[in-house]
Amino acid sequence: MGSRPVEFSDVLQRITPVEGWTFPEECYVLAGLAYGKRVVEIGSFKGRSAVAMAPYAKSLVCVDHFQPLEHAQGFGGVSVLAEFEKNVAPWKDKVRVVSSPSGELQPDLFGGGIGLVFIDGNHDYESVKADLRIAAALPRGTVVAMHDYWNPEFPDVAKAAGEVKNMLPILTAFSLQVFVLT
Ligand SMILES: C[S@@+](CC[C@H](N)C(=O)[O-])C[C@H]1O[C@@H](n2cnc3c(N)ncnc32)[C@H](O)[C@@H]1O
Repeated sequence: MGSRPVEFSDVLQRITPVEGWTFPEECYVLAGLAYGKRVVEIGSFKGRSAVAMAPYAKSLVCVDHFQPLEHAQGFGGVSVLAEFEKNVAPWKDKVRVVSSPSGELQPDLFGGGIGLVFIDGNHDYESVKADLRIAAALPRGTVVAMHDYWNPEFPDVAKAAGEVKNMLPILTAFSLQVFVLT
């Protein structure tokens, strides 16, 4: 991490070879938000957003069941987990993989001091609610970023978020909505 600023060109270079859905500008915002923080990501796929954040984060816990996705058939046939591990290998000392469904997580799994939660798992209402339940239980000041919040294909993301009372919106970048816990 050092004291280098988060440069867009650096983020772009790292994420470009990694298949995924998160736009470069969204990755750039996530990279800045992750700076110096303990980060939890729910929904990693092959690690596109993870490689955006990993160099700057103090630590990064990546939660994903790593099952092949039906709608991602064009995204290569090899194991998603193997691809993910290959992509985050340069930061393996600070990246921890939790290979399980997010709904089965216990919040204390993360330990204390989480500064950023990035939610990009399943986008149906019940899944988003479950992921938000974990995030919203963290202390005031924790940053919660949600992907596809503004994506009309996934209205349940904003619907579930709207029901959480202790999240204050602070930043929008394309389809990414960022909140801080109050
Ligand atoms: C949109 S992709 C994540 C994309 C990734 N953030 C990127 O930048 O490319 C959603 C991921 O969530 C995972 N996922 C979906 N439902 C899940 C669940 N219940 N628990 C854990 N992971 C889940 C899928 O396996 C998939 O890899």
